[in-house]
Amino acid sequence: MSNTQANGESNIQITKKAKMSGDTATLHLDGIPPEVLSKVEKYLQLFQLSPEMLQEVSARLRKDLLRGLGKHSHHKAPVKMLPTFVRATPDGTEKGDFLALDLGGTNFRVLHVRVEEEAQKVLKMDSQICAIPQEMMLGTGEQLFDHIATCLGDFLESQNLKGKTLPLGFTFSFPCEQLEIDKSILIRWTKGFNCSGVEGKDVVQLLKEAIHRRGDYDIGSVAMVNDTVGTMMSCGYRDQSCEIGMIIGTGTNACYMEEMKNVKRIEGEDGRMCINTEWGGFGDDGSLDDILTEFDVEVDKTSINPGVHIFEKMISGMYLGEIVRLVLVKMTKDKLLFKGQISETLGTPGQFETKFISEIEEPDSGLENAKKILTELGLDWDPVDACVVRLVCDTISSRSARLCAAALATLVNRIRNNRKLDHLKTTVGVDGTVYRKHPTFSSKLQKAVRLLAPQCDITFLVSEDGSGKGAAMVTAVAQRLAHQSRLLEESDGEDNDEEEEEEEGQ
Ligand code: GLC
Repeated sequence: MSNTQANGESNIQITKKAKMSGDTATLHLDGIPPEVLSKVEKYLQLFQLSPEMLQEVSARLRKDLLRGLGKHSHHKAPVKMLPTFVRATPDGTEKGDFLALDLGGTNFRVLHVRVEEEAQKVLKMDSQICAIPQEMMLGTGEQLFDHIATCLGDFLESQNLKGKTLPLGFTFSFPCEQLEIDKSILIRWTKGFNCSGVEGKDVVQLLKEAIHRRGDYDIGSVAMVNDTVGTMMSCGYRDQSCEIGMIIGTGTNACYMEEMKNVKRIEGEDGRMCINTEWGGFGDDGSLDDILTEFDVEVDKTSINPGVHIFEKMISGMYLGEIVRLVLVKMTKDKLLFKGQISETLGTPGQFETKFISEIEEPDSGLENAKKILTELGLDWDPVDACVVRLVCDTISSRSARLCAAALATLVNRIRNNRKLDHLKTTVGVDGTVYRKHPTFSSKLQKAVRLLAPQCDITFLVSEDGSGKGAAMVTAVAQRLAHQSRLLEESDGEDNDEEEEEEEGQ
């Protein structure tokens, strides 16, 4: 473990120093006697990443971005850098009615969205949520897509839209190799999904087949959208300098506008294309092994996809609670907490929910919340235990925020270098429960990014329903571009006619 201190400083000193320099979050140390703190520190030290280490993480990711973009290196790259075929952000002239589907968490949503040019607004006309039962997340692809087609059919029926074939934006928040805006091959499932017969297949085709099996309605053109892209595009309508989309929720990922000349595996040198980085896969080749703790290794080992999305497993909502639980279990086994007694609930994987971390870190009510949660978990706690649990939560969420910051800094620094700018001013569209709900996550992240990307001035914009409205926006921009290129072709044709006429006349 290279991030352990080898210079002989005492553990307490390290925490105090970190606290004073503001390098790590202002950790909650109050209420913990020094002799307990020095023991607790031994477990938590492994999660504290120095600014130098964060810079190193950012440098490693920078190399991986290049590998992912390369024509010959991308097959083996852990950070996939997937072309999205989104070539422009909104320019404010988009308009029309759209359907949007959103699949990526435990729920599936169907929406009817209207984009209004005059008012520059994206209106959600109506929407419906369908739960995806756990068995379906692990069942066959056919069952899953039949379920989706049924939900969509019911929605169209209820909205009197069955006769219309509206264009559809499909937010499918899993890594897909996109061959066109409407051809998208699932590389692998993540975040707890594992339906058979979908990996390696075109998701648009599977959706269309399921709709045709029913035969009672049809859809128009389809645009496949990753949630990061939807997030960028929904913010892009409000702020046209938004060219990064970031999600820190159940999973974590980001997309950004890359120069076409750097996207080596797609023909063409001009303009830009949005790249879905799939940064969750960072570390899958072992490049982060030196900063993984035994708890990260355990979380990965017991997940349904060991070895996959290592970076995501250190950061996102699906895993943070479990990391905290494992640390608490170990501390209890070592008699540092709860008088050495692990309750059955604390001993059960998944029982320490990520939302508990947010509740326990609330500035005012945090300690009270901690006591309530510990009681509900069946633990025999004392006031020092509650303070230690808060420190554990704080340490693990801070590491998550700082790792995200390192990754985001890599992207903004790359955009700045691409454009040969001394200074970049840009906007990042953000979404996800961890970013939205955790009381201090966003400020910790922003502070660390400023440190790691001092020449970039970043505005953070929380997206308004990127997976719904954003998906409609992607579809609307794709339509605008298609329309513009049709007009261009037609006017090219006219020019030719004129030339021919001129030639004839000569
Ligand atoms: C996972 C998915 C990715 C998605 C992210 C956030 O990392 O692989 O496609 O964007 O979760 O939902």
